[in-house]
Amino acid sequence: MTLVIAAVFVSCCDKNACDDKTNDATAMNTTMNDLLTRRSVRSYTDEVPPMEVIEEICKAGTYAPTGMNRQAPIIVAVTNREVRDRLSKLNAGVFGKDNDMDPFYGAPVVLVVLADTTAAFTWKEDGSLVMGNLLNAAHAKGLGSCWIHRAKEVFETEEGKAILRDLGIDDTKYVGIGNCILGYTAGDYPEAKPRKENYVYWIK
Ligand SMILES: Cc1cc2nc3c(=O)[nH]c(=O)nc-3n(C[C@H](O)[C@H](O)[C@H](O)COP(=O)(O)O)c2cc1C
Repeated sequence: MTLVIAAVFVSCCDKNACDDKTNDATAMNTTMNDLLTRRSVRSYTDEVPPMEVIEEICKAGTYAPTGMNRQAPIIVAVTNREVRDRLSKLNAGVFGKDNDMDPFYGAPVVLVVLADTTAAFTWKEDGSLVMGNLLNAAHAKGLGSCWIHRAKEVFETEEGKAILRDLGIDDTKYVGIGNCILGYTAGDYPEAKPRKENYVYWIK
């Protein structure tokens, strides 16, 4: 009797171990696939993705590695249309474009990454890794995304600083890293450009 129970137990454990490995392998393949197939999307529908999906993407951002785990970056998640439009205008203003030009390509959501320059000397790298996580997580969740630059300049303007202060963020410490725009892709999904020669040098 004991032997039979033990045998059943062992076979269950083996099966679970096997399932875990299969799941790990599947998850690994999915991660690789997401990393290789994510592209910068520059055309969006107006539809705002569900809040829980946006929250999950933000969560992925907060799990990026940071120098000495100082967690210097923050994410300002903008789903408010009026603020999103103001950020778009400020962004266009940085490179002298007229107000009709939308540097966010119609994306309804903007996740702005900023970093506390006093928290760690790696603040810029930390913020860039958060951006990377956001872009890849958005793709993994079926959304289009793109890094839109000039967050630094936007949050150096008086209007940009006021947005930070309204959120209780110290505008003297935080510098903009990038804007991760998000939404549902309109039209065809872009294809990857060929990778350059000699991207990787081996020392074996
Ligand atoms: C630091 C950085 C800044 C970028 N700024 C912009 C931008 O302001 N506007 C834009 O349309 N794309 C921007 N991009 C997206 C790049 O153009 C895009 O990643 C590149 O063309 C490669 O395409 P892929 O992301 O589809 O692989 C930026 C990307 C990075 C990493």
